[in-house]
Amino acid sequence: MVADNVRKVVLAYSGGLDTSVILAWLRDQYECEVVAFIADLGQGDELERARDKALSIGASEVFIEDLREEFVQDYVFPMMRANAVYEDGYLLGSAIGRPLIAAKQIEIAKKIGADAVAHGATGKGNDQVRFELAYQTLNPDIKIITPWREWDLNTRSQLLAYAEKHGIHIDKTGAADRPYSVDVNLMNTTYEGEVLEDPGSAPPQGVFSRVRDLVDAPDEPENITVSFSAGDPVGLDGVALTGSEIFARLNELASKHAVGRVDMVENRIIGIKTRGVYETPGGTALLVARRALEALTIDGEVALLKEELMPRYARLVYRGLWFAPERQMLQAAIDHSQQNVTGEVEVSFYKGNVSVVRRTSPVSKYSRNRVSFEQGAAAFDRSHPEGYIRMNALRFAKPEATA
Ligand code: ARG
Repeated sequence: MVADNVRKVVLAYSGGLDTSVILAWLRDQYECEVVAFIADLGQGDELERARDKALSIGASEVFIEDLREEFVQDYVFPMMRANAVYEDGYLLGSAIGRPLIAAKQIEIAKKIGADAVAHGATGKGNDQVRFELAYQTLNPDIKIITPWREWDLNTRSQLLAYAEKHGIHIDKTGAADRPYSVDVNLMNTTYEGEVLEDPGSAPPQGVFSRVRDLVDAPDEPENITVSFSAGDPVGLDGVALTGSEIFARLNELASKHAVGRVDMVENRIIGIKTRGVYETPGGTALLVARRALEALTIDGEVALLKEELMPRYARLVYRGLWFAPERQMLQAAIDHSQQNVTGEVEVSFYKGNVSVVRRTSPVSKYSRNRVSFEQGAAAFDRSHPEGYIRMNALRFAKPEATA
């Protein structure tokens, strides 16, 4: 059966089993041209192999784009200016990748005259919402094909059988064999589903692939100094680096010291709870360092407002509303607060912790002169607190009869 009339579709392709089956299925079901788009967000896969695989399954064309720098500079860093954390645990590393992949798909579709886009996200998850809200914001006319909500390949064995039938190579050592779902990019590795579905059981041995187990962490701490300019990291140990270089180095250090693993139960967009396990090594270190620098450089009331807005902001990102006007409004306010978040923070990695040891800024709000116990009346008039305290105590007066 030929569904709809789609001529040419841009598929977000990973090289894994699911999107490979989708590629074959799209050609089968829609009898259309399928263009595979492979986004490099720092997942570390062999992308040229994925290209060959897509072509062998029948993609008419394959686009591979190295989006690492754009991912960090235009998505991760702006999000991190909010110190965004979803439900007290998830640093949103996967959620923030989706709008970028979707935006590139729409861009490619326009360039090559495709009339549809497709993704491999499942029907119960968050990613379908994120991809499709982005598609619809950026091109309301594009057709969206959602294989997981359309086909009847509902079990792993059906999927494998379909792959077999269409001559799709199944990598027995790779993702197809893992009894859980994994998503990897420069910022995080996430694990969920199947063997992780029981929140009452610890993740089985061998699940984790990125951050070292705490018991294997080195006995010596290691320090690094992160430089920030207007809220964003710009270098390490005094050397200017690009965003993705900063992530690469911090990921390496933090992973080695067992920093950044979180096991949590979270509320999905569609209203169900799920158990998610995350490894966000470098991101965790950056969050700690950024907070320390904000504490030094941001006005207290501004910091409080920012802190109050953060859960709203994190929720917007989680719910796929990156391109929505309310996210842009919050971003403008947050960005405004970052003008003086410039300086250096030294952090120390040790046995699962990342702690701040030192922070400096050329534009801090911190006045040693004002805070010092050593200074006399020159820095601070000691009679001022008395009036302030009396004013504040006025409302504590005993009740009395009105006249
Ligand atoms: N629960 C996380 C989120 O919603 C992780 C999703 C990871 N996606 C995946 N296909 N495994 O952002």
